[in-house]
Amino acid sequence: MIKNICCIGAGHVGGPTMAVIAEKCPDINVILVDNNKDKIDAWNGDLNNLPVYEPGLKEIVKKVRDKNLFFSYDIDNAIQKSEMIFIAVNTPTKINGEGAGMAADLKYVISCAKQIAKSAKSDKIVVEKSTLPVRTAEKVKEILINEGNKNLKFEIISNPEFLAEGTAISDLYKSDRVLIGGDNSKSGKKAVDLLVEIYKNWISEDKILRTNVWSSELSKLASNAMLAQRISSINSLSALCEKTGANIVEVSNAVGLDKRIGPEFLKSSVGFGGSCFKKDILNLVYLCKHYGLNEVADYWHSVVKINEYQKNRFSKKIIKELNNSGNNSIVLLGWSFKKDTNDSRESASIDIACELLNAGIHIIIYDPMVSDDRIFQDLSMKKVNVKSKKIKVVNSLTNALKLSNTVAILTEWDEFKDYKWENNFKIFDGRNILSLTQCYYSIGRSYEN
Ligand code: UDX
Ligand code: UDX
Repeated sequence: MIKNICCIGAGHVGGPTMAVIAEKCPDINVILVDNNKDKIDAWNGDLNNLPVYEPGLKEIVKKVRDKNLFFSYDIDNAIQKSEMIFIAVNTPTKINGEGAGMAADLKYVISCAKQIAKSAKSDKIVVEKSTLPVRTAEKVKEILINEGNKNLKFEIISNPEFLAEGTAISDLYKSDRVLIGGDNSKSGKKAVDLLVEIYKNWISEDKILRTNVWSSELSKLASNAMLAQRISSINSLSALCEKTGANIVEVSNAVGLDKRIGPEFLKSSVGFGGSCFKKDILNLVYLCKHYGLNEVADYWHSVVKINEYQKNRFSKKIIKELNNSGNNSIVLLGWSFKKDTNDSRESASIDIACELLNAGIHIIIYDPMVSDDRIFQDLSMKKVNVKSKKIKVVNSLTNALKLSNTVAILTEWDEFKDYKWENNFKIFDGRNILSLTQCYYSIGRSYEN
């Protein structure tokens, strides 16, 4: 039985996952560590200002913090105390070197492996939680064997996380499946069994899948790619709807009622965002190219290309209309990549805002949860001059709507759906949350004639 675990990376994946393990397994001590000291201080601080916002998370943290869930930046100490170590650090797309712009950058995962090798004084089971290219476990194992104490045994298992932001806690409570990939050796199987024992505290065993390590690593990339592919499929059809007079909401409903297709992930939108989809697909594309599978690479790459096309298509509609009407300002509603999260990584709003600014349009931004700092940070990463008078970030919907009567809905927040819209607003609905009659333009529902 495992008594002590730690997780390196107290972010969107590590934070909620470890909180739920601590809650469901009162006999296990869980230490969440991170090399960002401010983040750890925030996890130990005010419950209303935890570094990750997820419905239900603060209640769990309140219940288990300092009982069997601890937040610390003493990574070496946490490694030494734990029999099982989860790695949940980020794996961004590489900026430099071979595979730049496509491959996943494994430098943080590698540095975790090195730190485990350096600090470990007893046998360790290392669990890959981060989404990783297939065969990363091999590299991690190599480091542990070459750089760690030769008398110790290290087992590497893959246990990818499928939670979605905004629903992380409910996803963790009732996962569709828990995937655990391990070596076929006796010690590999034992390591998998020990992790299964942890999950069995709240997940029924028939939902726990055992596979080989490579299948587990690839299944995570494949799941994200197939979810994103559904969105790109429906978004590509939304353009055709606008040419033909078909309505994408009706089409999506009709298609989704076929049990073989199913209704999920068929909502047409301004384009998918979030930290995973684009990064993971580009990583998949890179892997396919690496193995000489160019046709397969092109197939998956088109999912990302359609997503770029969709964002650009939406921006162009706005630019065209504003040019025609002589108005040059617009309220952008929503900055997070979807509702119920304060995360704006890869949000479609960022690219749309940049395209509008490039066209000389003034933008007024409102999001109920993303901070002003974060919005300015996102824009400066795109080399936008955030001191420009063309950008205003406001703190309420009513204040935003005082500044322009042209509005684009970019995130499907309930506040925008429930607002009593008067008909003096020209609304571009990028999420199809309003009725068609309320909108000037709506993705896949506005017939171009
Ligand atoms: C990340 C990956 O992006 C995703 O692919 C993977 O499936 C899980 O981990 P997320 O939790 O959303 O997702 O990332 P983030 O919120 O950025 O958290 C990562 C944390 O790791 C950060 O708090 C960062 O400070 C920390 N970190 C990073 C370390 O503690 N050490 C490092 O060396 C690097
Ligand atoms: C995703 C996966 O769902 C999750 O399993 C994985 O672990 C991490 O990546 P996440 O990025 O948090 O989770 O959010 P998700 O709900 O999948 O939405 C991603 C993007 O797709 C959002 O921008 C969302 O608005 C968009 N989307 C989703 C659509 O445009 N249409 C849809 O029908 C569904």
